[in-house]
Amino acid sequence: MTEQDFILNKYLNSLESGSFTWSSPSNIALVKYWGKKKNQIPANPSISFTLDACKTTTKLAYSKKENKNDFSFDVYLDGAKKDDFKPKIETFFKRVEQYLPFLRDYHFKIETSNTFPHSSGIASSASGMSALALCLMSIEKQLNSEITDVFFNQKASFLARLGSGSACRSIEGDLIVWGKHKEITGSSDLFGVKYPFKVHDNFKNYQDTILLVDKGEKQVSSTVGHDLMHNHPFAEQRFAQAHENLSKLINIFREGDLKSFIEIIESEALTLHGMMMTSMPYFILMKPNTLEIINKIWNFRQETGLHICFTLDAGANVHILYPESEAKAIYEFISSELVVYCQNGHYICDRIGFGAKQLPI
Ligand code: DP6
Repeated sequence: MTEQDFILNKYLNSLESGSFTWSSPSNIALVKYWGKKKNQIPANPSISFTLDACKTTTKLAYSKKENKNDFSFDVYLDGAKKDDFKPKIETFFKRVEQYLPFLRDYHFKIETSNTFPHSSGIASSASGMSALALCLMSIEKQLNSEITDVFFNQKASFLARLGSGSACRSIEGDLIVWGKHKEITGSSDLFGVKYPFKVHDNFKNYQDTILLVDKGEKQVSSTVGHDLMHNHPFAEQRFAQAHENLSKLINIFREGDLKSFIEIIESEALTLHGMMMTSMPYFILMKPNTLEIINKIWNFRQETGLHICFTLDAGANVHILYPESEAKAIYEFISSELVVYCQNGHYICDRIGFGAKQLPI
């Protein structure tokens, strides 16, 4: 597939007004996307678990307008008008316009809400952009009913990527690869694909408890962080390492090798933050409590032999990953020993999920 394949040359139907609603989850990267080229092309391939409970629901209402000069839309979060969301959506519309030629024909009302608090430090860009991309695809499907399910999902992922890179991994579940990798059949820089090989039962219903260490606004946006990979002294080695880690994961997923899984996942998280600390300008997004939690996890793993590990995204919050078979003991440990490090004791219990859903409203 190339970019051109996502441009449909004809719309068979005409549409006046209506609405679509999609609920789309967040995802947590195991091999991280950090660094990108022009047009949201990733510098290296990444793989993620799609989440289940952390999601955004977006209702997109559309009505035909006379004037086709500008984009026209309003955005609401939990019922309140959010004009500060508009620039990001305007940028998204500009990026996807050539693939969705109907965008200037309608006025849109975008009503969105998240299951997690907006100020939780959990980025809503993956779930939010994927939900919006899916709503737009529902409109395109009304305009051209010949669109297949495969094309629908691929194009939704393609569009979501143009909104926010990691969003392309939120359309489907449960394990999604984004970025060309020589051993992964069908993988593409343009959209996310379902991981195509065997995954051992050890990874079924894998748990992710998210400890909300710092709920403030991010000090450094992902976009700025990605940019700093351009002149980064370790960039090329890092990109090569991501390819190697993804290769190693193929065997780990097949064999259910949790020990090796943990090694790669934690190394990826710390490498991501290592890249931040060694960029120019350098920055640190972990907080003292992030390190307290990591050390507690390491001690508990040493003492018990249980397969608990952590990963991080571009912030201070800690995602604790563990197999369902060990959930009881690990959850007890989290609630008795780790919740004290969370801001206001807040954390979210999530698990691997199966992707976005259209809602009938
Ligand atoms: C650290 O997808 O938020 O979470 O493409 O600029 O919107 P943009 O970046 P974004 O970056 C996510 C970075 C990450 C790692 C990952 O999810 O792979």
